[in-house]
Amino acid sequence: MMSIIQTNSLTKTYNGKGGISDVTLSVGEGIVYGFLGPNGSGKSTFVRTLLGLLHPTSGDGYILGEPIGTTKSREQVGYLPELFRYPDWLTGKQLLESHAELCRLPVRKRKKRIEEVVELVGMTGRENGRISGFSKGMSQRIGLACAILNDPKVVFLDEPTSALDPIGRKDVRNLMLYLRDQGKTVFLNSHLLYEVESVCDHVSIVHQGEMVVQGPWRDLMMSDAQVEVVTDQSIDVPLPSFLKNHQKVKEKEGRTRWLFQLESESDTSEIIHYFSANQVDIYEVKPITPHLEDVFMHWVNQKKENAYVDNQ
Ligand SMILES: Nc1ncnc2c1ncn2[C@@H]1O[C@H](COP(=O)(O)OP(=O)(O)OP(=O)(O)O)[C@@H](O)[C@H]1O
Ligand SMILES: [Mg+2]
Repeated sequence: MMSIIQTNSLTKTYNGKGGISDVTLSVGEGIVYGFLGPNGSGKSTFVRTLLGLLHPTSGDGYILGEPIGTTKSREQVGYLPELFRYPDWLTGKQLLESHAELCRLPVRKRKKRIEEVVELVGMTGRENGRISGFSKGMSQRIGLACAILNDPKVVFLDEPTSALDPIGRKDVRNLMLYLRDQGKTVFLNSHLLYEVESVCDHVSIVHQGEMVVQGPWRDLMMSDAQVEVVTDQSIDVPLPSFLKNHQKVKEKEGRTRWLFQLESESDTSEIIHYFSANQVDIYEVKPITPHLEDVFMHWVNQKKENAYVDNQ
């Protein structure tokens, strides 16, 4: 598969401090890629470096095969910066018109394209209002409309839902999936686990300016995934070795609550299958989704352990 974004040990620090170091990644076509990390982990620095707004300290990167920092690398790119302030004396539509001018959208196509993006971000009927009168959520929606106006192949969204209410977040999520279904690549910066979880195919987890782990989202979550199963306690079945990793609590009302540590996605169905094959009644099956902090800490600790092993 073609690599839409590629970086090799890309580093951007501010006079040797902060920023982000040594990121090597490859983002395939037609996916939503999550760049997940807590505040100050270097997400915005990374995206701004990819877009040529910051000069790399070392390493290199390519967007659609073009070296970062070149005009060519930005031609088919859309970008929603974080906490961006738009000229608020303009109306939403005027802002889009000025963006259309900047990205040299052919004049005959502008009117239709502006109507399209306004519709896509759910601002139809409100685009003629002045930005000064927009709520934070409306500003963020207009910002998104600007980011996708030139029908880019790659869209960088830096915390696109930070100002949005739950409905707005859902709208943006659907917009990202819509773009992906159109074959676009979306690079999403976020510190929100559920946001990344619900739309991203692949993720990188960054922490204190370093890449901690990357891979398909489901695989990373499995690191700490558990399932709780409540069964009839009267039958004590010996567990096969693949289910050894568990805790078992006997409950008063004649039931047993099991907590299984999962190693792969298919474990849940194997557990259910095993119990029912042994005539054990199952009353409840509840997946336990790990918290963002736990996923972080798991991988951060893992990384420290690996570093220790490497040093031996
Ligand atoms: N212009 C700058 N000058 C000096 N240090 C900076 C600058 N911009 C960012 N940093 C530092 O680099 C680190 C990464 O910041 P960055 O804004 O890239 O993180 P982030 O992951 O986007 O955080 P957030 O979730 O808060 O947006 C932080 O320690 C920050 O203090
Ligand atoms: Mg940021």
